[in-house]
Amino acid sequence: LRLAVLGSGAGSNLRAIIAAISEKKLKAEIAVTLTDQADSGFRKIASEAGLPALHVDGGANPHRLSEAAQKEIFEHLERARVDVVVLAGFMRILKEPVISAYAGRIVNVHPSLLPKHKGANAPQMALDEGAQETGCTVHLVTAEIDAGLILAQAKVPVHAGDTAETLHARIKVEEHKLLPQVLNEWCERGLPVRGAGAS
Ligand code: GRF
Repeated sequence: LRLAVLGSGAGSNLRAIIAAISEKKLKAEIAVTLTDQADSGFRKIASEAGLPALHVDGGANPHRLSEAAQKEIFEHLERARVDVVVLAGFMRILKEPVISAYAGRIVNVHPSLLPKHKGANAPQMALDEGAQETGCTVHLVTAEIDAGLILAQAKVPVHAGDTAETLHARIKVEEHKLLPQVLNEWCERGLPVRGAGAS
């Protein structure tokens, strides 16, 4: 499968995908990476791995994408002949035309056991609630935030004295295993295939 990976942050999930591919645990290739943050760790990891590391100007609102950016991302995905879109810490909301064109083929990794703790700051929400455990979720992306079909989850204990940072770091360790696993299951089952079922 040809993957596009989109991210805005440190890029540790991108690094995990790259590692899984080179260790042959994930039989996919990264066709393109896209970021809205030109100076991010994500982009650095992509370029150092020799991957196309494209920057898209998302517009003024840090959580939204301008209409022009939504279209630009779609065009990049088409040009790179992408089968699956992976949101790995992409902090802006993806909408049309990508959401419909790639329906059922966009996955996101979220640092909570969805449907709990949707949105940004999920590890802090788990702490505020006094949760004994939290975790991570890999799910399909739909127009509604953090609400698409759940594909896999892993649990993580909350320790006494955890801060949002220490808890998030523990969650990420599980994300780095879970996301490549889910992608590889898709590869092995031959699903989802670009254009499958389309007329
Ligand atoms: C991850 O915790 C992911 O669940 C969330 O954003 C974070 C991205 O981390 N959506 P990284 O950039 O992959 O290190």
